[in-house]
Amino acid sequence: MSRMLSVLALVLSLAVPALAENVASPIPIGFAVAQTTNVALFGQEQVNGAKIAEEYLNSLGGVNGTPIRMVYQDTGGDEAGAVNAFQNLITQGKVVGIIGPTLSQQAFAANPIADRAKVPVVGPSNTAKGIPQIGEYVGRISAPMTVVAPNSLKKALALNPKIKNVAVLFAQNDAFSASETGIFQEAIKGLGLNIVTIQRFQTTDTDFTTQVTAVLGENVDLVVISGLAADSGNLVKQLRQLGYTGIIVGGNGLNSPNMFPVCGALCQDILVAQAYSPEAAAEVNRVFVEKFTAAYKKGPAQFSAQAFAAVQVIVEALKKVEATAKKKITAMELTEVRTALNKALRTGSYVTPLGEISMNAEGEVEQKDFYVSQIKMDADGKSGKFTLLPR
Ligand code: ALA
Repeated sequence: MSRMLSVLALVLSLAVPALAENVASPIPIGFAVAQTTNVALFGQEQVNGAKIAEEYLNSLGGVNGTPIRMVYQDTGGDEAGAVNAFQNLITQGKVVGIIGPTLSQQAFAANPIADRAKVPVVGPSNTAKGIPQIGEYVGRISAPMTVVAPNSLKKALALNPKIKNVAVLFAQNDAFSASETGIFQEAIKGLGLNIVTIQRFQTTDTDFTTQVTAVLGENVDLVVISGLAADSGNLVKQLRQLGYTGIIVGGNGLNSPNMFPVCGALCQDILVAQAYSPEAAAEVNRVFVEKFTAAYKKGPAQFSAQAFAAVQVIVEALKKVEATAKKKITAMELTEVRTALNKALRTGSYVTPLGEISMNAEGEVEQKDFYVSQIKMDADGKSGKFTLLPR
């Protein structure tokens, strides 16, 4: 009998919807990135960018006078951490939307949870193929590598038109790296170059002797790397230490100043494609660069600018939600706002530090401006800069 009662209680609890609740004030926006583990080399830059956005956008009045509050949740570097962070933000944080996670590898695991809960996700740095296709509630403002990566190869050829033989290396345990290397490989063949060796590694590797030896055994004049920051940095270092002198093209994983201390002076001259320029003309970018530099005593790079843009896009979309509903976000039910925000994100365009961007119906970012940079290390061999090359 008691068993029957508990079954009845369960059925009732499933049948009776939870009491509808309104969005809190300040408006909570989830920010789930890696603040610990090696992936924090990217995640710290993302938090830095989001903090500037939170403060600046609130100084402008937040969402038509209602401030926003970023709810930061550390995902660590793996899928389980991202899943936990998303669950916390959805059920306890009661956020209107989630910005995150850092890695595509984590997005493929965590985004379906938000999608099922009908909570919009804005990817601030996921560049693998297939992210927006995870679900109706998943979008991104980080341009996929299909669009960005080939630019750096063309630049390598411009610097050395004699390039013929290419070595390709990638982290095989990471979804973004595996996706990116596919794009690089296609582009390399499209440019009429030969891929003479493909070497695999793990994002946790620190010793690359086997891969470097294989590269040096071929007559290679271009090396193309797809990995995360710590692994790629060590790989570059060992390539140079063991005698490779040709051009190195790095993918998005090498697009972080937090990689500089890993390869030190040997990071010099790596070519990296960019979806952001600190020199871009938009007024919001000028303000972002100024505030970021004042706060952190260094200029922003792509991961920070994309994090800022993600927050900005959500705030502007929330204003559209208020305009359409003709009431304050905080006077609306959380579930209603989540759905309306997802729709609003995909309408119109946003002038951000990345330039003008928009999200198409599928949630894919549409962006106009891309760049290629070359790493120039300072004399101390620890700090450096992504110097933009003329377009
Ligand atoms: N762009 C990297 C990824 O998508 C960080 O995983």
